Amino acid sequence: MGRHRPDPRRLRGAFPMKATLNTERLILRLPEVGDAERIAFYLNNLAVSGNLARVPHPYFLGDAKAWLRTRRDDLPPEETNFTIEVPGQGLAGAVGYHIGLGGQPVIGYWLGQPFWGRGYMTEAARAALDWYFAVTDADRILSGVFEFNIASLNVQKKLGFTEIGRSSMHCLARNAEVRHIDTELTRKAWIGQQR
Ligand SMILES: CC(C)(COP(=O)(O)OP(=O)(O)OC[C@H]1O[C@@H](n2cnc3c(N)ncnc32)[C@H](O)[C@@H]1OP(=O)(O)O)[C@@H](O)C(=O)NCCC(=O)NCCS
Repeated sequence: MGRHRPDPRRLRGAFPMKATLNTERLILRLPEVGDAERIAFYLNNLAVSGNLARVPHPYFLGDAKAWLRTRRDDLPPEETNFTIEVPGQGLAGAVGYHIGLGGQPVIGYWLGQPFWGRGYMTEAARAALDWYFAVTDADRILSGVFEFNIASLNVQKKLGFTEIGRSSMHCLARNAEVRHIDTELTRKAWIGQQR
């Protein structure tokens, strides 16, 4: 991970490492064993998994349980995932980090199809990005979208991500190589747009 001195403007001590993040309409919290059914229900949908690199299709309850077994409260930020809850409606999706090629943090996210189109992911990802830049000294976060995923590209543009290249990425659900727009969000851009 590209490391530099912590930016005091971002490290205000506002975020514990293992936070529950509350936004205007959403709650982001660490995954729990009881999340398996809803995760499996929403991810067993090619309209969702076909936009993600690492989720198989069909997606079974056992896949969700296996993923949840990899979740621990002591994982570092670059391996932390939050589930996204809509109060009164329960788990709606997830947003989280993994370590990409080159050791850089990569953000990924999904929402169950009934929750699309309400601005939820922009709101959830904004909170997850705020958290990440506050609890780490990372100077950039990587992401990207399959070329056809205009909704996700729009989310990323709204958040300040910019395109850094094009590549080809394997999509497990489609069992195919798919053209990919590679993006990044720098700490500088993130701080700049909040002034
Ligand atoms: C992509 C995804 C996360 C978007 O979540 P969302 O909560 O619906 O996104 P938001 O409402 O915050 O923002 C979507 C933006 O894209 C726009 N948009 C949505 N569908 C679009 C389309 N087909 N063409 C163009 N723009 C579109 C919306 O209008 C909105 O922009 P706006 O606020 O300027 O109007 C959600 O659709 C999803 O989970 N899809 C399946 C999994 C996935 O694609 N994950 C991301 C992988 S990179």
